[in-house]
Amino acid sequence: MKTKLGTVILSAGAGTRMKMKLPKPLAPFMGRCLVDFPIEEGLKLNKAIGESYKVSLVTGHGSDLVKDYVTSSYPEEEFGFAYQEEQLGTAHALKCYFDQVSFAKDCEYTLVLCADTPLINMASLETLYKELITNDLDGVAATFLEETPKGYGRIIRSKEGGFHIVEEKDADDIQRKVNEVNSGMYVLKTKFILDHLYSIGSTNKAGEFYLTDLFKDDYKVKPVLFEDKMPFAGVNDLHQLERSEQAMRRRIVFNLREKGVRFIDSRHTYIDTENIGAGSVIYPNVHIDHKSCIGEGVTLEAGSIIIDSTIEDEVILKAYSHLEGAILRKSSVVGPYARMRPGADIGSESKIGNFVEIKKSVLSRGVKVSHLSYVGDAEIGDQTNIGCGFITCNYDGANKHKTEIGENCFIGSDSQTVAPVKIGDNCFVASSSTITNNMPDGSFAISRTKQSTKEGMAKRFLKSK
Ligand code: UD1
Ligand code: CA
Repeated sequence: MKTKLGTVILSAGAGTRMKMKLPKPLAPFMGRCLVDFPIEEGLKLNKAIGESYKVSLVTGHGSDLVKDYVTSSYPEEEFGFAYQEEQLGTAHALKCYFDQVSFAKDCEYTLVLCADTPLINMASLETLYKELITNDLDGVAATFLEETPKGYGRIIRSKEGGFHIVEEKDADDIQRKVNEVNSGMYVLKTKFILDHLYSIGSTNKAGEFYLTDLFKDDYKVKPVLFEDKMPFAGVNDLHQLERSEQAMRRRIVFNLREKGVRFIDSRHTYIDTENIGAGSVIYPNVHIDHKSCIGEGVTLEAGSIIIDSTIEDEVILKAYSHLEGAILRKSSVVGPYARMRPGADIGSESKIGNFVEIKKSVLSRGVKVSHLSYVGDAEIGDQTNIGCGFITCNYDGANKHKTEIGENCFIGSDSQTVAPVKIGDNCFVASSSTITNNMPDGSFAISRTKQSTKEGMAKRFLKSK
């Protein structure tokens, strides 16, 4: 069966203006990489319109790094890869795609995207695609109006309804004044590309093979002018990178507000996901990465950082807490100043207080660890109360060991458990105890030296000023 739509993402350029060691497609963006965004929107479009689809990349600079990143990030997708050793222009990049990717020529339509336009969205691509289909055209180019069009190819419309594109370098004074510019994104019939691509030359000011030469006044091609130019914004330097990230976050905040998420001051939030439920409130300086998921009615107080974590409904995360790979279950209260490390699973209605660090531990319902404690490699049963300054001594210098504490226990302040150790249900550990042996259900343990008090002896130790 013929593949309906082949998407090719041109990403061979060096991106020297980014001043980064990484190849440009791997420049960081919203906690991921630039290239993730056209890939995902291309996949979405492909899924929306076609029974069959394929996404490919033309790589050049840092080719292996880009390939490794893409294949490991989308293990369920089968990508086509073409290598463009020398960047001889966008038409040459497209040639590399058709010459090297086995299925490229079999796709009925070809969507051309760039790796450095992370704000591109499925809706714009769908509009572009539909223009081509409904008008039975051979090619369409997405265009927009730019007050300062410098650097872009200009859209020169002919009286007969056709158009062609003139690059900045090749434009005369009149053409340079044209404000309608080429976004660099196109949908074309593959057969049309193959009929014309190989005859494109490089006799122009840049000496490059221009993909834009596929568009000529007397071809069945059309520019599609988009009112909103934001989706086509390119990232060529760190100024544009920051502006594009800000634009993307504004878009996310807008969608979240529409859904019922309230912001105290959204300009100072850094939210990379739309997975936040209605009724949640977000204070300033909250960071949430794209892998995290937040339920309904959650309060996220100022300065909290949430990475790869799940927060269920009605949780209160108090100020300046740091979560990574953690789960906070329904109605738990965490922080202020709490650190939840990978594998921290905080049971519903549990309370974790200030300066508490929890790593790879499962706390059941209603557990309290209110102050200044470290809990690692542990399991703690329902309703157990851990006093202030408790430590699971889980590491012996070579290996990590497990601590089990049953339900309804009371662990006095300033206690330690030396793992591996198991405390049963309904146990009581006296303050300042070091627990090295297992405790059966219902037992009491105390392990600290007896106090001896010498009357009148303090003056020997008190230093007079
Ligand atoms: C191109 C268009 C221009 C348009 C602009 C929008 C041409 C000739 N011109 O400009 O009309 O306004 O995009 O940004 O196409 N790339 C390769 N191999 C190459 C050259 C480029 O893979 O040999 C990739 C780049 O990595 C980038 C994309 O193609 O992702 C666009 O290249 P870039 O150099 O930014 O565009 P221009 O040619 O300046
Ligand atoms: Ca002690």
